[in-house]
Amino acid sequence: MSLDLVPLMPAFGAEVRDLDLAADQPESVIDELKRALNQYSVLILRDQRLSEARHVELSRAFGPLMVHVLKQFLTTPYPEIYVLSNVAEDGKPIGNHKEGWNWHSDLSYVAEPSMGSLLHALEVPPEGADTLFASMHAAYEALPEETKERIRPLSAVHSYATYYAKAFPDREPLDETQRAKTPDIVHPIVRTHPETGRPSLYVGQDIVKEIVGLPFDESERLLAELNRHAIRSDFVYRHKWQANDLVIWDNRCTMHCATPYDDNRYRRVMHRTTVSGDRPF
Ligand SMILES: [Fe+2]
Repeated sequence: MSLDLVPLMPAFGAEVRDLDLAADQPESVIDELKRALNQYSVLILRDQRLSEARHVELSRAFGPLMVHVLKQFLTTPYPEIYVLSNVAEDGKPIGNHKEGWNWHSDLSYVAEPSMGSLLHALEVPPEGADTLFASMHAAYEALPEETKERIRPLSAVHSYATYYAKAFPDREPLDETQRAKTPDIVHPIVRTHPETGRPSLYVGQDIVKEIVGLPFDESERLLAELNRHAIRSDFVYRHKWQANDLVIWDNRCTMHCATPYDDNRYRRVMHRTTVSGDRPF
């Protein structure tokens, strides 16, 4: 069998049609999904009625799963599922709200960031709350040769503490255990996809604090320039969610960004699993 793939953008992204992942699938189908992910970086699958157990099982086929540091949002029976939501039950939020409203790739702030994420939509607002995805292969490839040469040897500091303080200024700061689990980490600005060998730009808003070895002003300028370039419209796909969508993306070569919605009127419940990855090089 070969997958029915419909490309989304010239540079990346594909919709996988006529595949029901709630049903058991032979290993050959999972292998094809992995190949498609390497080729397209973002895969969209509509109408996937996955149980939480099946979501976790399917995600494990891509590799071992990571457990998020914000334990208060692991509110299903499966600690591998990180809940994103504005819904509260018995006065307690069931998930993290206003998460990821900056351009980032998941878990870039750890030494071995996630290779990919599987986000399953349970309840979605009828308007707003789109997720934007950008191809960092396309972004890197479109850079002028002299910029490529300049940034290839550079590394940058990724900092969860910096992101958290910017994203959630109204919340209690991270506690000592959470801080100890998320020290600042240095990663290359240009990384190599470990399976395809293709280079990509590896940056991010708020989470990337500084470029190692550059004066502060120069680091700020270059980061701003690269972050601006990375999300040029021809590298960006906007996903409009429907309930039961499953989106699988490769964190090694894409960034994504959540967008707001009317959270007083609408409920949103999303379940994310996060697959372990390797040290970027
Ligand atoms: Fe994210």
